Amino acid sequence: MDRPITVIGGAGRVGSLIVQKLLAGGERVRVVGRSGRRARSLPDGTSFHVGDVRDAATLKEPLAACSAVVFSVEPGTANQGADSPKSTMYQGVINALDAARADGARPHFALVSQIYVTRHDHPINNWGRMLDWRLAGEDAVRESGLPYTVVRPGWLTGGRSAGDRVHVEQGDRGEGSVSRSDVAEAVVQSLYLPSAAGLTFEIFNEPGQGNPDWDALFSSLRQGPVAAR
Ligand SMILES: NC(=O)c1ccc[n+]([C@@H]2O[C@H](COP(=O)([O-])OP(=O)(O)OC[C@H]3O[C@@H](n4cnc5c(N)ncnc54)[C@H](OP(=O)(O)O)[C@@H]3O)[C@@H](O)[C@H]2O)c1
Repeated sequence: MDRPITVIGGAGRVGSLIVQKLLAGGERVRVVGRSGRRARSLPDGTSFHVGDVRDAATLKEPLAACSAVVFSVEPGTANQGADSPKSTMYQGVINALDAARADGARPHFALVSQIYVTRHDHPINNWGRMLDWRLAGEDAVRESGLPYTVVRPGWLTGGRSAGDRVHVEQGDRGEGSVSRSDVAEAVVQSLYLPSAAGLTFEIFNEPGQGNPDWDALFSSLRQGPVAAR
């Protein structure tokens, strides 16, 4: 891409895989995170920016004039206040969208969300209404006017414990796990393939062959808000 790509949470487990894949493809990558300590393990060629999605001012510089933004942030679980999912997965997403759209810019915005966001009665929602606020953050992305992709992984695993095949679906009724590497690849592919624009989908591994045709997978899905509520 002609301008840098910004990965918020790029020093995290999924985020660092995204960063590695982007660097391998020759991209210039900016990483945003709160801790300079984590940043020490980032690969050469990455520029690290201390920032917190809950503090809008810290996002201005790293999100200025970029080709794409990835948001892969783990929220706190408090019921309210700075460590609540509301502060990170809702207000934090809005802060990132605002910074991304500054001066009329229109970068692709890829959000790493999770399965279950439309299942209000799921026990995960007992943690600070995690699911409700994640869904509100997703909605903000879908309504942002930016080209976007919302990726909802199943349970994250280090390897492909559920199988090598990548399965994508919509409607938030599925269950399963998915490797962080396949989630990272889905995010990276979504930045390049027009077929991923406007998609919200769940992603799992299952038994079968790996190495998917991402364009075919994305093209099999429906654009727009598809969440069952
Ligand atoms: N665990 C699962 O099974 C599962 C399933 C589905 C979806 N997910 C979601 O997938 C995403 C990626 O997961 P992961 O395992 O890669 O998480 P992770 O390793 O904990 O990485 C999260 C990153 O977010 C950054 N971060 C946290 N709070 C931040 C803030 N306020 N502002 C800026 N950066 C912040 C962290 O860096 P600093 O601490 O340095 O800021 C870290 O680099 C998360 O949203 C997670 O909830 C997880």
